[in-house]
Amino acid sequence: MLPPDAEPFASGRDADVYSIDESWVLRRYRNGHPVRDEADFMRWVAKYDYPVPAVRQVDGADMVIERLSGPTLADAAIAGEVSPVELGRMHADLHRRLHAIPAPSGTSGQVVVHGDLHPENVILTAEGPVVIDWRNAEEGQAEFDVAMTAIIFAQVALDPAFESLSPLLRKALAGYLADSIDPTPGLDAALASRGANPTLTAAELALLPAQAGLIRSYLTR
Ligand SMILES: Nc1ncnc2c1ncn2[C@@H]1O[C@H](COP(=O)(O)OP(=O)(O)O)[C@@H](O)[C@H]1O
Ligand SMILES: [Mg+2]
Repeated sequence: MLPPDAEPFASGRDADVYSIDESWVLRRYRNGHPVRDEADFMRWVAKYDYPVPAVRQVDGADMVIERLSGPTLADAAIAGEVSPVELGRMHADLHRRLHAIPAPSGTSGQVVVHGDLHPENVILTAEGPVVIDWRNAEEGQAEFDVAMTAIIFAQVALDPAFESLSPLLRKALAGYLADSIDPTPGLDAALASRGANPTLTAAELALLPAQAGLIRSYLTR
């Protein structure tokens, strides 16, 4: 499907994204991880009108998905096009809408969780924010998913490598938590899950207890 010398136009930690035409892109995991399960979740939430790229085709580590145009929410926030409080509120809204969707298995009390919903996995299109990168999607508890996002905001807020972004992320985290359900029942499971994430550096892992402390400090206000 791709010429052997094709160059990706975008890359994340796990995937490369290649242009097919003006409407579609090919997203490929560099390590060959199969995409079938995440594509199933993307198709499931799309049925509930959740903002997600349409999935046209799935094959091993490749999926052909709708091309989105616009900056990531992270880039929009860094550029000052979205305020920190708006960033937090947008994430709370994206989670509220996602967690209203029942689990595909029909298990009661379970919802669809994204597991990695943060500003680099949201593209701000002309029609509004659209959520990408569904690798960690599963059936689970809304509180776990909210805790995962809070941990990711706290990670950047506390990482010395991103010191200049700390005020923005602290305001976004406060706005996010003020607008979300209380993540406390899912916080320990989310911390354990982050601790087992193989893409995190040792320095990022060492900050987990401080991230939990920052989140708890906003929850008790
Ligand atoms: N449907 C899409 N349309 C346009 N660009 C995309 C699309 N999906 C992903 N991208 C680009 O590729 C980057 C990485 O995609 P992502 O799915 O988040 O992969 P990773 O798992 O590697 O983080 C995104 O930040 C974005 O720039
Ligand atoms: Mg990503």
